[in-house]
Amino acid sequence: MTETKNSRSAWIQGGQTQCSPSPVPSARPVRLVLLGAPGVGKGTQADLLCQRLGACHLSTGDIFRASKSLAPGERSAGLSEALTYMSKGLLVPDTTVLAIVRERLACLKCPGGFLLDGFPRTVAQAEALEKLLAQEHLPLTGVIDFELPIQEIVERLAGRRTCAGCKAVYHLVHSPPLKKDVCDRCGGALYQREDDRPESIRVRMNAYQESTLPLIQFYSQRGLLISIKADGAPPAIFQRTLAALNGSARVKKEKHT
Ligand code: AP5
Repeated sequence: MTETKNSRSAWIQGGQTQCSPSPVPSARPVRLVLLGAPGVGKGTQADLLCQRLGACHLSTGDIFRASKSLAPGERSAGLSEALTYMSKGLLVPDTTVLAIVRERLACLKCPGGFLLDGFPRTVAQAEALEKLLAQEHLPLTGVIDFELPIQEIVERLAGRRTCAGCKAVYHLVHSPPLKKDVCDRCGGALYQREDDRPESIRVRMNAYQESTLPLIQFYSQRGLLISIKADGAPPAIFQRTLAALNGSARVKKEKHT
């Protein structure tokens, strides 16, 4: 258990970039996939879980958003293509996403473990991840599916504001900044994500229903699915998630004794 949060540079920038500080190796690294509709609160929970479990928060959406700040010449063709899909709320094609994840295989092998957020998002991506992890002998600890009625999800998305500097996430009603439009942590300006506009939210929800919902059955068949009710405040959901993770670890241990 550790409170250290690293820069995730190896994941965000790819290539030979190293994280700072280096990940703290764990005797039993936790490897989780977070599922759930856009806006259900995966990123919020990932932050809390990483602090507690010491694993690294690996979000494919964060890679794409970070690439926006690169000059067009510095951005790969795949990342430029991804930004076009993302701005419309559409899923980025599997081949592009998988190429980006494969380039970052070292992050999946991280000795501190990982929390994958926003990947896999289609059955093809889940199958590719399964193969990759099997080749590397890296079993998943579990797959957490956060559940919430759609009206509450849309309300969470519509009120989200993100810091342009440190990327901290706020909500206009549930976790507002102390000063309007200014980040409490770094003083950066808060903005609304392009894909949080109503027309993009509709497209994202449809993509989720069509492409990502089937993953619930995919992981349930493999005995990995852990369903969590995502209503209430973030700390309550976090406690529910930890309890479910402990329960699932206990069941697995009993099965093997
Ligand atoms: P991505 O970045 O993965 O976004 P997402 O899945 O749409 O999820 P979000 O980041 O929108 O929401 P979240 O669940 O993390 O919620 P959050 O914690 O911020 O993907 C973006 C795009 O990239 C995709 O549309 C696609 O184009 C592309 N992409 C990425 N990966 C891909 C892949 N693998 N394949 C293809 N395309 C891919 O919370 C939301 C708000 O609610 C915040 O304001 C927060 O403060 C608030 N909140 C959180 N918890 C609570 C709570 N308990 N109570 C009240 N408010 C809360």
